[in-house]
Amino acid sequence: VTLPSASDETFDELMRDLDPPLLVVTTAHDDERAGCLVGFHSQCGIAPRRYALWISRANRTAAVATRATAFAVHVLGAQQHELAALFGAKTGDDIDKFARCAWVPGRDGVPLLADCPDRITGRKRDLVEVDADHVCLVIEPLDTHQVRTDSWLRLAEVHDLRAGHPPDDPPHPR
Ligand SMILES: Cc1cc2nc3c(=O)[nH]c(=O)nc-3n(C[C@H](O)[C@H](O)[C@H](O)COP(=O)(O)O)c2cc1C
Repeated sequence: VTLPSASDETFDELMRDLDPPLLVVTTAHDDERAGCLVGFHSQCGIAPRRYALWISRANRTAAVATRATAFAVHVLGAQQHELAALFGAKTGDDIDKFARCAWVPGRDGVPLLADCPDRITGRKRDLVEVDADHVCLVIEPLDTHQVRTDSWLRLAEVHDLRAGHPPDDPPHPR
């Protein structure tokens, strides 16, 4: 086991201080549904518009994402800790997350979370392997809805959660 250096710890602290808003990405392929909590994400294109999310290879969501084309990206409100726990601290390998939350099927069956009206639905443009333990999912937004304008759920609010699949888990079988 290699202990983190002082610089690694400073990196971790800087990343925590940036305090990103948290998203839930969902997807579906045939009858298979998947989704996970995501803190690594950003707009990555202007013309055309593109959004990038980084998905851990360990997650079941990464495996389904290789086959799926439709995705929904939900922005969580400050009060939605419970949904963050369902999608971030549990894996679809153990439980059916979609039996435990309200959703309706959208484009190509992608689950739209009923309690998360702030969302982008779109299609996969790329799923890129890079030298990291997460892969980059690039989405073309097709339909965006915004209801809330502030008070998003941020990383600092969920320090009690432990990832359902820690990133040092082996890559999920696809
Ligand atoms: C605060 C927090 C942030 C997370 N950010 C990401 C992320 O950016 N990308 C990712 O793939 N997983 C992230 N995770 C981990 C997944 O949400 C988690 O491992 C989930 O249980 C995977 O579910 P699945 O196996 O059903 O896909 C995060 C978890 C937490 C608690």
